[in-house]
Formats: sequence, structure tokens, C-alpha cells
Amino acid sequence: MSDASDSASADARLQAAVEAIRQKVDLVPEIALILGSGLGDLADAAEDAVHVEAADIPAYPTSTVEGHHGRLVFGQIEGTTVVFVQGRVHAYEGYDMRRLAFPVRLVHALGADKLLVTNSAGGIHRDFHPGTLMFITDHINFAFASPLAGSGYAPRSDVPGERSERHLPFYDTAWTERAQSVARSMGIATREGTYIWVQGPSYETKAEIRAFEKLGADAVGMSTVPEVIQAQHLGMSVLGVSTITNPAAGMGAESLDHDEVLEVGRQVREDLTELVRGIVREA
Ligand code: HPA
Repeated sequence: MSDASDSASADARLQAAVEAIRQKVDLVPEIALILGSGLGDLADAAEDAVHVEAADIPAYPTSTVEGHHGRLVFGQIEGTTVVFVQGRVHAYEGYDMRRLAFPVRLVHALGADKLLVTNSAGGIHRDFHPGTLMFITDHINFAFASPLAGSGYAPRSDVPGERSERHLPFYDTAWTERAQSVARSMGIATREGTYIWVQGPSYETKAEIRAFEKLGADAVGMSTVPEVIQAQHLGMSVLGVSTITNPAAGMGAESLDHDEVLEVGRQVREDLTELVRGIVREA
């Protein structure tokens, strides 16, 4: 049954989570940041941080992936109140889509109207080597799933005189341009491209990657898109950044020099951390 009573209980769960958090912290975040691999250090840099563990938040999905803490970290970065969503959950862990997007609904209900999402991704574009930072300008939903399914929402036809929801951008162009100029001013090289979401957890076949290249995808990964669909539906501004950690299947050397990859990882983490700080400052 996916009807009004379902969405009423979803609202009640959200409200219960908001109340549990409000008993611990009264900060109203401007920006929510969902951290992919490698950005954990940035949450450590939040000043006056208040941590709220996932286990203490009713209905909050807890991550099963090793090394992903499930918690919200409230604090200040560059004088802006932010909340970090640490320990994102993935569709391949078996969560249904509504549950997966719960952290986004929650940070929005707590006051955030901007969402900065980061992830790691495989490079499909032939110039996107490990270490490339890619602003996500568009996506392809190749998991064919949506967190809005079952929420009572249905596509509307255009109503004369109203702005059509169909054409609202998923990624905020103006924010992305500001972020690109922050990167330029810091001397950090960035690219932009289309991210394709696959459910995983197995990595793609070479044939899939060849097909994704033809579809126009530049990078492939197993996250982000459900969060962005939810955020866009709530009217949040979204900025997405992928770190290319490896060539997608069949796009690079069969085996990479591990030390080289680690070195790239370290360098890019530093750049990304500085970049995210700059983006928050200029948001
Ligand atoms: N494929 C899917 N997800 C990923 C990859 C990849 O090659 N690299 C990092 N996340």
C-alpha cells in the first residue's frame, strides 16, 4: 500500500528524527555535505563539532560498509554552519530507495537548503585519469530506481503559467560555476561531466563501460543519484564532485601501480579538502 497513510507515517518518522536531534543540537545548517571516501578528514575539521550517532536517530539507515561511520556531524566550516552526513548508505546494501534518501530529507528538515555531494568514481572519459576531480553537471540513472517512488509523488503535466518541475535542474549551474572559479583561484584543476549511477555491488563489465561511454557518461559510481533526486525534489541546490579513483573497466592499464594510486589519492584528498572549504566559504 503506497498511499496517504504511508506518507503520513513517513512524515511522523522524519519528525521523530528531527526531535531526537534537536534534543542534542540546535544548530541550523546552511549546507549539508555528504562525504564519499577520502573526505572524512574534512568533517574532523568542523569547529565546535557536535556528533549525533545514527543509532540515536530514529529511522536513520546505518551503513554496513566497513570504514563508514554512520553519524551526523554539525559544526562550523569557514564561519558557515554545516552538517556532514558521514557514512552514506548504498543501494547495494539492500536499503529501499526511500530509506536511502532519508538522510537528505532529514538535513533538509533541519534547515539545510544546499547539498554538496562527493563520491569516488571510475573514469570513463578517456582523459579522466585517477586523481581527476569532476564536477557533476548531469547524471544518468542506470539503476532505474527512485527514492520518490512510493512517496505519493507523481509526475505532473505542465500547468500553464506554472514552472514545470520537469525542467528544474538537478545540479545548480550557478553554484557549480562559482565552485569552478574557486578551484581556479586555488590552482586546483577540475573537469566536468556526466555521472552514471549503477546499483553495484559488482563492478561493471568492459562491455557495460563501452556502452556507458556511448551513452555519454564520463564517470561511473554506485551512489549520489538517489540523494540528488531527493534533494532536487525538495528544492535544494545541489553541487556534486566526483573523485576519479580508477579507470573504469577496460579503460586503463589492467593493473595499476598501487603506490602511484595511493600517492594520487593523498594529493587529491588534500586538494579536495581545500576545495570544499573554499566552496563552503563562497557558497
Ligand atoms: N565503478 C563503480 N563504482 C566505482 C568505481 C568504478 O569503477 N570506482 C569507484 N567507484
